[in-house]
Amino acid sequence: TGSPTLAVIPGDGIGPEVTAEALKVLEVASPVTFESTRYDLGAERYLATGEVLPDSVLAEVRGHDAILLGAVGGKPNDPNLPPGILERGLLLRLRFELDHYVNLRPSRLFPGSASPLAEPGEIDFVVVREGTEGPYTGNGGALRVGTPAEIATEVSVNTAYGVERVIRDAFARAEKRPRKKLTLVHKTNVLVNAGSLWWRLFESVGAEHPDVTCDYMHIDAAMIFMATDPARFDVIVTDNLFGDIVTDLAAAVTGGIGLAASGNVNPDRTAPSMFEPVHGSAPDIAGQQKADPTAAILSGALLLDHLGHADAAAAIEAAVLADLAERAPGTTRRTSEVGDAIAARL
Ligand code: NAD
Ligand code: IPM
Ligand code: MN
Repeated sequence: TGSPTLAVIPGDGIGPEVTAEALKVLEVASPVTFESTRYDLGAERYLATGEVLPDSVLAEVRGHDAILLGAVGGKPNDPNLPPGILERGLLLRLRFELDHYVNLRPSRLFPGSASPLAEPGEIDFVVVREGTEGPYTGNGGALRVGTPAEIATEVSVNTAYGVERVIRDAFARAEKRPRKKLTLVHKTNVLVNAGSLWWRLFESVGAEHPDVTCDYMHIDAAMIFMATDPARFDVIVTDNLFGDIVTDLAAAVTGGIGLAASGNVNPDRTAPSMFEPVHGSAPDIAGQQKADPTAAILSGALLLDHLGHADAAAAIEAAVLADLAERAPGTTRRTSEVGDAIAARL
């Protein structure tokens, strides 16, 4: 069998900085030694060669046991870098091609991390964001561009196959948690076609899980509760775009985007899953050792858990918890210092 293999895509901006710390922590925490291969994909490669994700590289990446990604996205308004080229061509292409239909984004308020809420309560929920469909599929187009008669559409694609499988995954996750509660978040009052499909599948799959408490919220109302009483949530299942937005707010109420980890999971294991922080390349702080690598480090824990090393994943989480509890308010550490401190606890 040999060593498990890891494809590492540090990417752009703070991506390489936080990925280095995640690897540092993985190295001490993992019970197995990964054979890792680094893939230099992202803005630099695109600007130098015009390549975003060559088919041959995708095929190589596919051959690994897991993928660790930092972030992608170049400097804003770079005239040589059309918007979306890396986001769609690299990140979304990986998610789609490797069938990462569960975008798993856990949110916990760890003691010591600063929530902006006065009384946050015990926040511990997970968003199961659909990862391969919705408005992300690139269906749509633009007509009469640049004229007053321009029309732009982005069609949200929702298939019974795609919606059912992510709902099934969410129910299975809810069933394993103490509160066993699942909230569907959508906008069935306006997006009636997709909304109806999501609602019917939520009800029919729910009937197979009588022990799970089902709840529904429109996305707008869900945002009220996310900001006023996030402790009410246990598992949330939602579509690709709603899930993107919900999870940045979820990060904000649980201590900031620098702590939010995610997994792009292929539950059927037909291709490697990919783990990455929820945040982006943060061009405003890139290259300054200012980024918090905790989100990347916790994404490494999700990776270990996915590969069957639950104890090592829990050890990383415990080290992060201990580090957070001792982070002195008003002080800042360099990216590498945070990684060192967490690694030293393991
Ligand atoms: P962003 O998440 O990169 O940054 C938003 C804000 O959060 C910035 O002020 C940034 O400094 C701060 N921030 C982010 N991560 C941080 C960290 N680890 N520690 C401390 N502060 C942190 O979002 P954006 O500015 O909207 O996007 C920048 C680029 O990243 C864009 O090109 C976007 O498309 C891309 N992006 C990529 C991913 C990804 O790779 N998964 C995710 C989101 C955005
Ligand atoms: C994220 C990002 C991506 C998304 C973008 C960069 C394609 O915002 O991972 O949350 O919208 O999924
Ligand atoms: Mn996002």
